[in-house]
Amino acid sequence: MLRDTNIGIDSIAFSTSRYFLPLSVLAEHRSVDYRKYCDGIGQIAMSVFPPNEDIVTIAVDAAQKAISFIDNLDAIDLVIFATESSFDLSKAAAIYVHNFLKLKPSCTAFDIKQACYSLTAAIKMARCFVQSNPGSKVLVIGSDIVKYSPNSSGEPTQGGAAVAAVISENPRIIAFEPYSGVHTTDIADFWRPSAAKEAMFDGRLSAHNYLESLKFALDEYLQKSKLALADLDYVCFHSPFNKMATKAARQFFPEKDVLDASIYNAKIGNSCSASLYISLISLLDNCSENLGGKRIGLYSYGSGSVAEYFSGIVCDKYREMSLALKNQELLDSRIEISFDEYEQFCANVIPASDTKCSYQNVGQVFLSEMIDGYRMYQLKEQINKSSVDNCFNMLNIA
Ligand code: HMG
Repeated sequence: MLRDTNIGIDSIAFSTSRYFLPLSVLAEHRSVDYRKYCDGIGQIAMSVFPPNEDIVTIAVDAAQKAISFIDNLDAIDLVIFATESSFDLSKAAAIYVHNFLKLKPSCTAFDIKQACYSLTAAIKMARCFVQSNPGSKVLVIGSDIVKYSPNSSGEPTQGGAAVAAVISENPRIIAFEPYSGVHTTDIADFWRPSAAKEAMFDGRLSAHNYLESLKFALDEYLQKSKLALADLDYVCFHSPFNKMATKAARQFFPEKDVLDASIYNAKIGNSCSASLYISLISLLDNCSENLGGKRIGLYSYGSGSVAEYFSGIVCDKYREMSLALKNQELLDSRIEISFDEYEQFCANVIPASDTKCSYQNVGQVFLSEMIDGYRMYQLKEQINKSSVDNCFNMLNIA
């Protein structure tokens, strides 16, 4: 059990693709009743990524926003990058982020993995680190792009996003409480062999195990904390698709409304490691009640599987740390793509004829070149003719 009482999220931000496909378009092309997607699954759109965006580019974008609240970047001693969408089995994606943020060389950077649970694991590790290194800050990032086979039942639940958070003492957004309930079980509900671009899954088994694990983890959390369900003011869930979170809420927390906590996920789709924390940001941004002093219950689930139930108390000044307007703007300004463009993005090709799918609609950095499989990134502000040519040549042969 962690003993910290005043360690938590000091700042938090997310980023996602600048492109989306409405699920009404997918439904039409897959000859599925759209109501299945919007009512049955609870999703209205999914973020779709152009070939020059990946887990690093969206992570840098989110992290730059999260650290903009931090006065002394030298206090960041550790960067933990949580992902299951890694493109490199050796080098950590965390190192690219460390470089773009210009963090000090004496700051450690590495990646971790356990499906969608991994950002919670990173936060758990960060809390221990801050506890044993008073004054230190840890930058944690969860960044994932979720791809299923075209025409599979998972297709309407694709998506992707990055969340970056600074974990520190005296946090300004949410202070974690010291107890949690964990449930780990070996199960083949979702996996991605290292050579595969798309995940394999057993949808029914995964949904069943998500709920079973919640039961065990929540029971343990309640036992350890000596709290009752009524002591939780709001609840947020890992949200592979919104209906999963709604089902969990109905079964275990019938009194709780999860609408505000699901607004962003419904538009982004599954963002794996980032998903629970997108739900938390959605609640903080959209709930009209002042959440200062409220207890938020958080359910993290990663297939395979590891689940954890834990909680935190929202800090009084959380609204001063809000990026709500920027978050709304990011989602509202996304470009709607056609089904043809979606298929080209899935094949990792920038549609040659379509200028709106250009390199420009990316965050702070974009993937500009690949040499012997090594990824080179460039700041958007440094774009020149040759980098654009490189980018297009590389992407169209990827
Ligand atoms: P499916 O088999 O195509 O859908 O895939 P279904 O037949 O189960 O229907 C879904 C719902 O739509 C049902 O509602 C239907 O009744 C309803 P429910 O019975 O569940 O309440 N429906 C309709 N509603 C209105 N009008 C209609 C209509 N037709 C049907 N016309 C499934 C669904 C979730 C299985 C699929 O999307 C899938 O396999 N997704 C991928 C796996 C997944 O997301 N699992 C979730 C738990 S595991 C997890 O969270 C971890 C994960 O994030 C990965 C990680 O950890 O890394 C995935």
